[in-house]
Amino acid sequence: AVNLKGKHLLTIHDWSVEEVWQVLKTAEQLKLEEKRGQKHELLAGKTLGMIFQKPSLRTRVSFEVGMTKLGGHAVYLGPDDIKLGKRETTEDIAKVLSRYVDGIMARVFDHKDVEELAKYATVPVINGLSDFSHPCQAFADIFTVYEKKRTFKGLKMAFIGDGNNVANSLMFACAKVGMDFVIASPKNYWPKEEVVKMAREDAKATGATIEIVEDPKEAAKDADVVYTDVWTSMGQEAEYEERVKVFKPYQVNLELLELAKPDCIVLHCLPAHYGEEITLDVARDPRGQSIYDQAENRMHVEMAIMAMVMG
Ligand code: CP
Ligand code: NVA
Repeated sequence: AVNLKGKHLLTIHDWSVEEVWQVLKTAEQLKLEEKRGQKHELLAGKTLGMIFQKPSLRTRVSFEVGMTKLGGHAVYLGPDDIKLGKRETTEDIAKVLSRYVDGIMARVFDHKDVEELAKYATVPVINGLSDFSHPCQAFADIFTVYEKKRTFKGLKMAFIGDGNNVANSLMFACAKVGMDFVIASPKNYWPKEEVVKMAREDAKATGATIEIVEDPKEAAKDADVVYTDVWTSMGQEAEYEERVKVFKPYQVNLELLELAKPDCIVLHCLPAHYGEEITLDVARDPRGQSIYDQAENRMHVEMAIMAMVMG
């Protein structure tokens, strides 16, 4: 097995195919044991420091509960507690926190901040969402696909919507495990060329295809997984009016799902803006039930990641 001790998780692109699989396999094992009621002490006496510049339900609770279940503890540092980048330098925060805790999870606006934390911390830093990527989410997402389909080969994931942090991470994740990925977005919201290039590099090893199109119907056609995320991410609130207009044709609704495979699953990282990027009837449809498994799986993959990098 690969040794991940001390490794940062800033983007999935930084992790090897073997390391990605190690997370999936460990998460599967931990989830199974969890369901059997088995107790763990893998991180007994260890503490995770959690820095949040933005709100959160899933990330905060899944990491905090995950630490508890591994025998450890988590400290929540909200936007007003340490005021990342305002009260003192990020370098000092990283150096000081490293003297207290065994790992740092950070949710930031600017991806550079999580890179800066990783540069100066002497403990592993886990990205809990930045403007560039959301690796723990994408790990939960591919884990959920694997749980339902037992393979990635020959599967097609269609991401309908904004070429944002979640889309970037999914593109990296699909490339690593060999699942075909297509994103449909309005031209101005396509993922950045360099990000697509990075994913395509990774995809060479697994044979996955990475495609960018404008037409949501083309993307949804014969998809095994239909994925969407909010049109207006945290920090983009000023662009709301504009985005609702531009993204209107990119709604995941029952009509669009008709084009996907009959046994497709719908995924959404949540929180959802029902009536915008996804309709409520899709979330209530049997195909939409995987959304809640996906949310639960955040915890199982994060427990695996923490056990591996902090254990
Ligand atoms: N999906 C996700 O990261 O949710 P939160 O913003 O609630 O953490
Ligand atoms: N793209 C969204 C994801 C939230 C989990 C955001 O950045 O706000």
